[in-house]
Amino acid sequence: MNFYEPDTIERIRLISKEQFDTLYQISRILNSVNYTDRLISDTLDLVIDVVNAERGLFVQYDEIKKQFSIITARNIQKEDIADLSEFSSGILQKVVETGQPCLYHDVQSDPNISQFQSVQLQNIKSVLGVPIIKNERIWGVILADSRMNRKEFNEENLIFLDFFSNIVSLALDKISKLETLEKENILLRNRIEAEKKIPKLIGESVVMQKLALLINKVARTDATVLLLGESGTGKELIARAIHDLSDRNDKPYLAQFCGSIPDTLLESELFGFKKGAFTGASFDKKGLFEVASGGTFFLDEIADISLALQAKLLRVLQSKEIMRLGDTKVIQIDARVIAATNKDLNLLVKEDKFREDLFYRLNVFPVKIPPLRERIGDVPLLTYHFIKKFSDKKIHIETDTMKMLEEYSWPGNVRQLENVIQRAIILCDSNKLLPEHIVLEEDSKDANFMGTLRDFEKVLLLKRLKMYNENRTLTAKSLGVSVRWVQLKLKEMNGNK
Ligand SMILES: Nc1ncnc2c1ncn2[C@@H]1O[C@H](COP(=O)(O)OP(=O)(O)OP(=O)(O)O)[C@@H](O)[C@H]1O
Ligand SMILES: [Mg+2]
Repeated sequence: MNFYEPDTIERIRLISKEQFDTLYQISRILNSVNYTDRLISDTLDLVIDVVNAERGLFVQYDEIKKQFSIITARNIQKEDIADLSEFSSGILQKVVETGQPCLYHDVQSDPNISQFQSVQLQNIKSVLGVPIIKNERIWGVILADSRMNRKEFNEENLIFLDFFSNIVSLALDKISKLETLEKENILLRNRIEAEKKIPKLIGESVVMQKLALLINKVARTDATVLLLGESGTGKELIARAIHDLSDRNDKPYLAQFCGSIPDTLLESELFGFKKGAFTGASFDKKGLFEVASGGTFFLDEIADISLALQAKLLRVLQSKEIMRLGDTKVIQIDARVIAATNKDLNLLVKEDKFREDLFYRLNVFPVKIPPLRERIGDVPLLTYHFIKKFSDKKIHIETDTMKMLEEYSWPGNVRQLENVIQRAIILCDSNKLLPEHIVLEEDSKDANFMGTLRDFEKVLLLKRLKMYNENRTLTAKSLGVSVRWVQLKLKEMNGNK
């Protein structure tokens, strides 16, 4: 219906004030910002009420399958009707065929209509049907019917329903846009959530979430990744995660530990050899670079390889070609390289112990893994994770025990925590982990402290503040002092600067 058509105004005059008010109410409901599915049912209830119908039906029409599907169907008791067959499919069909509003009185005696089984079964007396037109196509149908004991519908009801269908048609655009946005939103949220987490990599601290995001991003590329972090921070775990999250995850993942392995052995492992290349080479052997082709190759403890082997490695990374030892044939390789070290490569470069050119080759995408003491908030989660890993029993961890774990500096990082928990579970013969089950090596730095007690107080306070991201309440709690004490000490320190 076009509101500019001359007869529109005439038609508006035909509807009662009550119906006009209802239309106004409906348009407000459907335009409300907080759209929910219930709104459609609510508006249908209003329609049933105002046209004095017994039931209302709102269906979507699939042009291709020539099928109707219920959006909502309601009876006078404001209950849902789930079964479409309770309504007259013949009348729905007629509305779709003509594309016009239809009004049928006394359908029981109308031979064209009474043949429909549902009309007879439901004892329907009068039916109103209007198409919902969207983009010049029939999007759906609104139907209202009434039974023997109710009044017949009239022209006024038909006009009302027609207006209603127009409002619905306008609202549908908005609804479908909202639904699309909602779906998109869920998808994006899911993706963000997924990117904040890496399976098997436990930790929800801000630094770990950032790390997970970074890992997710770089995993999808072929860039060489250099994992930097103290021993036990999870470098191997992350290397594997990068492979698992990459497009190469259906191809091989190979790792080679490069620390303290004789050069010749490491070289033959990496590049392979030809039969007769050296004494003992009684067969051809593929190198790991070759086997990892298409997949990922993790070079662990890269700082430990000799300068001679560094030169060879550099060539392979530059040319993406290898030659097996004793062979002359060049083999193309396509392995994504991830390298890791717990050493300070910059320093080694300065000391001429690591080739600068190789450093830059490997340092395409450096990923720093923070030590556990810088994400102490992850300790509880990791502790529960390891308890589960090492025990089938439900083991409870006492508050004091957790406090002890959270106050330790974890020089051996997650690996050390893992070992401590494993040991604690062996020592614990109940289902409660107590402080006495936790065996920690002395915090060497703290024990060897040579300053005064006052100095130590200061060092400890600053260290703890850093550990808790400058949160004074948590710092005070962990030190067993009041927040006021922390504030006073800081003031004192600042005054003494
Ligand atoms: N975030 C984590 N979540 C769960 N387990 C972890 C995490 N980080 C490390 N681990 C576990 O801690 C142990 C040590 O991790 P990993 O071997 O990856 O450390 P690394 O950095 O390679 O150490 P190193 O330099 O000594 O080789 C492993 O058992 C690993 O599964
Ligand atoms: Mg390792």
